[in-house]
Amino acid sequence: MAIVENPRTLNLDDIQGMLTLGYSNLYQTAYVSLKVLDNSAAKTWLKQQLPLVDSANHQVKTSRTVHFAFAAKGLLALGMKEENLSSFPLPFREGLNTEHRTRILGDYGENDPNNWNWGSNNAEEILMIMHAASDDDLDRFIQEQREGIELNGGLEIVRVIRGFLPEDNKEPFGFHDGISQPVIKGSGKPGPKHDIVATGEFLLGYPNEHNQISFSPIIEVEQGEMSLLPKSNLFHGKHDLGMNGSFMVFRQMEQDVDGFWKAMEEKTLNEDGSINEEAKIRLAAKCIGRWPSGASLVEYPDKDPGGDQHCDDFGYAETDPDGLKCPFGSHLRRNNPRDTLRWYGKEQSLKITKRHRIIRRGRTYRENDKTGLLFICFNADYELQFEFIQHVWANNNQMRHLTNDVDVIIGMPGEGNPHNDKRQFTVENSPVKEYYSGWDQFVTIKGGAYYFFPSITALNYITTI
Ligand code: HEM
Repeated sequence: MAIVENPRTLNLDDIQGMLTLGYSNLYQTAYVSLKVLDNSAAKTWLKQQLPLVDSANHQVKTSRTVHFAFAAKGLLALGMKEENLSSFPLPFREGLNTEHRTRILGDYGENDPNNWNWGSNNAEEILMIMHAASDDDLDRFIQEQREGIELNGGLEIVRVIRGFLPEDNKEPFGFHDGISQPVIKGSGKPGPKHDIVATGEFLLGYPNEHNQISFSPIIEVEQGEMSLLPKSNLFHGKHDLGMNGSFMVFRQMEQDVDGFWKAMEEKTLNEDGSINEEAKIRLAAKCIGRWPSGASLVEYPDKDPGGDQHCDDFGYAETDPDGLKCPFGSHLRRNNPRDTLRWYGKEQSLKITKRHRIIRRGRTYRENDKTGLLFICFNADYELQFEFIQHVWANNNQMRHLTNDVDVIIGMPGEGNPHNDKRQFTVENSPVKEYYSGWDQFVTIKGGAYYFFPSITALNYITTI
């Protein structure tokens, strides 16, 4: 494969920056949860924040940025009419924590929302995401925002969660993260052909990989400054609230780093009981689907080349059709099988997998002695993208020819599965496969919510409702 051009056709000035940018120079992040006390004052404050919001057209390297996301309750609290909220998709309106959704995502047992630190009561309203270059600057930035919010009086800060991008880009288990990302078609950013994905998979109001216009909420009953919003491409005479916006998933995922490495060690001991360091790292890499450096197992099947690797220009159909290099059950291959979906040829597989991509913007957190991933992803359709990936690929114990495996990193077998306690991981090998069974759960959900991530135009409009 090769890197291909992706001419810019989108109005990047109208798109919040996180949709196209990872802010790799702004290491520190704060996720500030806000509750509306007085909606008129809150909207005044929000309007004042607009100049701080970074767009996808980010030309100058700023040292601070702000982004805003809204849960359904937040839009209502700001004064959005129920009729207008009703044009949003059901998963957004219902929130992450419903009986049906907890079942399909595997949020039971240790992941049960009743044990979450936040989000379990679906009470989230507004999320302000702040980026800064250094810890000190983020401290100052939060303090400035806190003072502004207190002075305004329309909002209350409910919680601040801090995250960061480690300088070596490694998530807490020690693997280089944030490499495989889809590139939004029309964003002007080149990328491997398989990563250039239809605009409507991420931005609302554009053709998606099904050749449909991705569904965008509209204003059913006029309110606010209607002239700010574009006309809907789908619903004659209506104004489009979603265009150039997206939907966001936020999940706090605690990682049991010691448990993860202990399991890798115990499952690969030498016959005399001594530790086999090489086999331990190899098994962990097989579970993830990349080496700690980020190198792909397809390109480097035998040994980690080391360094800081970030190549995403590979498929499996030609180089690894039988999973001998990158196992079918690895985190990487499950959550994006690329050009090798069972029963389909290479081109058809790519066509289908492109309908289930997400833009990931996770960051690491550390709180006392706990660590993990503040998982954030963007998609236009929760059910076909994030929920599909978690349910159909990560939690599926029958994926490909696997019989009792789930994703070792994030998979949760069906709640009623009688083999629940015997999670297995298969390493395809020749002449015989290796089976590793009896895995514990290394990642636990500690909080989460679904948010609308509006365009900058819609953000401005929201301040007028
Ligand atoms: C603590 C939780 C998680 C950890 C430690 C983790 C770790 C990783 C790592 C190390 C990679 C390889 C680097 C890269 O290709 O960018 C990766 C890739 C990926 N992860 Fe995760 N991840 C976690 C949660 C999730 C969740 C919740 C999802 C979605 C439901 C997800 C979906 C993906 C996808 C789609 C890829 C890229 C696959 C590809 O395009 O080849 N991850 N993850």
